[in-house]
Amino acid sequence: MTIPPILDQLDVPDLDFAFQDTPDLHHLLAELRARKPYAVVPFAGTRAVLLLTHDLVSAALKDEQTFPAPAMYSLTTEPVLGRTLQCMTGDEHRLHRAIVSPPFRRSLVTGWIEPLLEPFAHTLIDRFDAAGHTDLVAEFTTRYPVLVIGKLLGLPVGDEATLLRWAHDLFYFPLDPPAAQRASREFADYVLPIIAARRRDPGDDLISRLVTEVVDDTTLSDEQVLAFLRLLFPAGADTTMLALGNTLSALLTHPDQLAILRADPAENVQWAIWEGLRWEPPVGLLPRACPAATHWQGLDIPAMTPVIFAINAAHRDPTKYPDPHHFDLTRRATTMLSFGQGPHSCLGSWLALAELRTGLRALLDRLPDLRLAEHAAADATVTSQVGTALRGPTALRVEWG
Ligand code: HEM
Repeated sequence: MTIPPILDQLDVPDLDFAFQDTPDLHHLLAELRARKPYAVVPFAGTRAVLLLTHDLVSAALKDEQTFPAPAMYSLTTEPVLGRTLQCMTGDEHRLHRAIVSPPFRRSLVTGWIEPLLEPFAHTLIDRFDAAGHTDLVAEFTTRYPVLVIGKLLGLPVGDEATLLRWAHDLFYFPLDPPAAQRASREFADYVLPIIAARRRDPGDDLISRLVTEVVDDTTLSDEQVLAFLRLLFPAGADTTMLALGNTLSALLTHPDQLAILRADPAENVQWAIWEGLRWEPPVGLLPRACPAATHWQGLDIPAMTPVIFAINAAHRDPTKYPDPHHFDLTRRATTMLSFGQGPHSCLGSWLALAELRTGLRALLDRLPDLRLAEHAAADATVTSQVGTALRGPTALRVEWG
């Protein structure tokens, strides 16, 4: 068999981009981009095209025709989450997205959800603020978005430990499929009776809104509501946890920037969040596939080639962001690729931004002189999590006061 020309030569021979991390990923991506706008890299035993510039990644995200999301998600998430938006395309995707979108609109997030967030952040901080030290990943960033999802679904907060376990196990599907399948079944057993109850007697929560929404005479079946609710854990809770961790990691390792933020939090919190999302986007290396052979942006890509959208390389493209490796919240750039672009762009971006703002503000207000503990810098570094697509810190051991 002849290897198609584009895949002829590997640019990185010894690093599998599906599974392996490298200590200085950004340096490697920058070096590759300086050579050409894409690279050919090992990926799960095959060869993938890695898109490295802002222009290519943005064009690819918007091009559902060439890189339909279901080509990858039907393998990576459908077996455990069910058939979600990620596994749909075209008219079916548009219809389903229209049904589930209303609760996530900006106006509703601001009016309905944002006021609920602050008490959650403070409840978590109440548990550790007297101690003077904690690991913010274990005690805050992991817990806070899961509590928010539980609240949105109208689930009793008493089930915090169970919700956390489901969120963790569904997230770790690529590494531990049996645990993810078990979490998926347990979640179904728990939530199906609640869906039935909300159909009979709708309230003010997300599940009630999902079961009552009608678009083009279509409503969601129980199975479709269930799949969407499962998706909220990996798509909504884990991404937000990593985003908050990445911004905190950046601030704690750049005390000059933390000082700028502290000088005027009301003005700077949102800019710190945007810059954190640019500097280390939680979805860093988004894998898609190209089911049919294509000539795209001057590249001849063979059928069934995995194509990785390197959002983290796009965010450090010097033609778009001057001095891109510098974490600088005064650059005031809004990061448009962190939440994707095009038909599958993030449904929860307004909610995520509200959660990040509220969480960061609460930590700053409650923990004076927040700083990394001694010898905590290595853990606080952002690394790959669960394969390489997602990135965040493993621990943020901090002290204050
Ligand atoms: C900072 C936090 C977040 C980040 C960085 C993020 C990032 C993303 C990205 C990059 C995509 C596009 C994936 C692709 O094109 O394949 C996406 C899709 C999605 N996100 Fe988010 N997300 C975040 C928070 C949330 C939250 C809080 C929710 C809801 C509770 C949510 C729900 C979704 C859903 C449902 C999709 C699939 C949309 C579709 O396929 O039509 N996300 N997100």
